[in-house]
Amino acid sequence: MSVSIKSAREIELMRAAGKILEKVHDNLGKELKAGMSTWEIDRLGEEIIRSYGCIPSFKNYNGYPASVCVSVNDEVVHGIPSRKHLIQEGDIVSLDIGVIYKGYHSDAARTHGVGELSQEAALLIERTRQSFFEGIKYAKEGNHLHEISNAIAAYAESFGYGVVRDLVGHGIGTRLHEDPQIPNFTQKSRGVRLKAGMTLAIEPMINAGRFDVVWQEDNWTVVTQDGSLSAHYENTILVTSGEPEILTLSHMEA
Ligand code: MF3
Ligand code: CO
Repeated sequence: MSVSIKSAREIELMRAAGKILEKVHDNLGKELKAGMSTWEIDRLGEEIIRSYGCIPSFKNYNGYPASVCVSVNDEVVHGIPSRKHLIQEGDIVSLDIGVIYKGYHSDAARTHGVGELSQEAALLIERTRQSFFEGIKYAKEGNHLHEISNAIAAYAESFGYGVVRDLVGHGIGTRLHEDPQIPNFTQKSRGVRLKAGMTLAIEPMINAGRFDVVWQEDNWTVVTQDGSLSAHYENTILVTSGEPEILTLSHMEA
């Protein structure tokens, strides 16, 4: 395994890609409402991505048919947009989006609540987001990768949540998925030593129930085995010798 170190020029391009992706999320997130189909969300998402002169990273990636992964309630990730799937009041909707800008990928996910949420759903969203921030406290040159994994898992599991094991975060750059793989669950080994210039997509997927997941018939949509709710939060970050730079988040959302 070799983890690429980005040059100053590459970092500038990844910053630009990240800024655009943040705007795509902000714009698309505002449009979410009950009654919308997940297909409409994807159409709108792709339009916004292209309006910034970017290419959707996910479209046709290993045959994935859309630009935005839309995963609702017990769907963990990789939900396929459908005209038949209408968003309902009280749903939790995770939007996972990747963009390519001048050859560089950026990848981020947000989970939104639509209308009034149960307390269980609202807490799951907030704690999944926080688990990312617990993890990146360790994303610093000289630390080891699995310190991030262990911090995410310890935080999420303290609430009795299940941390998904079958899917992981990843390095990112000229390819959507680069080394290293970044697990969100507790690791026995230390993992690679972090260096300034590494760009990583860190993406906890957290279930309100058990960690087990299953793949649906479409071979993409991952759902919780026990039917519990699941949330996803992801940013692309840059490792530095100090605080990490979150390339897909310049301001803290409310
Ligand atoms: N954020 C996800 C990932 O990094 C999205 C990939 S969806 C796919 O794996 F369609 F591109 F596979
Ligand atoms: Co990703």
